[in-house]
Amino acid sequence: MSTKERTFIAVKPDGVMRGLVGTIIARFEQRGFKLVALKLVHAEPAFLEQHYADLKGKPFFPGLIKYMSSGPVAAMVWEGLDAVKTGRAMLGATNPLASAPGTIRGDFALVVGRNICHGSDSVESAEKEIKLWFPEGVVQYTHALNEWVNE
Ligand code: TYD
Repeated sequence: MSTKERTFIAVKPDGVMRGLVGTIIARFEQRGFKLVALKLVHAEPAFLEQHYADLKGKPFFPGLIKYMSSGPVAAMVWEGLDAVKTGRAMLGATNPLASAPGTIRGDFALVVGRNICHGSDSVESAEKEIKLWFPEGVVQYTHALNEWVNE
């Protein structure tokens, strides 16, 4: 059964610097997801260490924190049916070389350490990440998609 979910999606600093924010937002809008939170954040290393707490100790962790704190991130929350799993499918595999063409990473990235976007990997991670990045909460509104995309 598909259920309405929320997922945390971020355009990483390289995606912002490359001017891909609009393209990535457009893909989620076109698919039929509803944008319920959006902001640019230049995150501190300590904040990113919380976001990536599960990866502490991995050899790539210091480089990941440096990369993610190198510039602003476009942080957003998208809502819709199976948003977490579908969001991950739209981003592509963690390693862009393994991402199918047609996915965001498969169309715009080549290396794992510059993979331009983040998406929550489970409903539980999404809840945690949304609370961390948007402690102020998300926006509630009625969107045309409610009528024209969903039955
Ligand atoms: P991870 O949570 O495993 O993947 P995902 O972002 O798809 O949920 O890893 C977080 C980020 O860490 C990943 O997007 C890119 C970076 N990373 C590396 O730089 N090298 C690696 O070998 C891996 C696995 C990840």
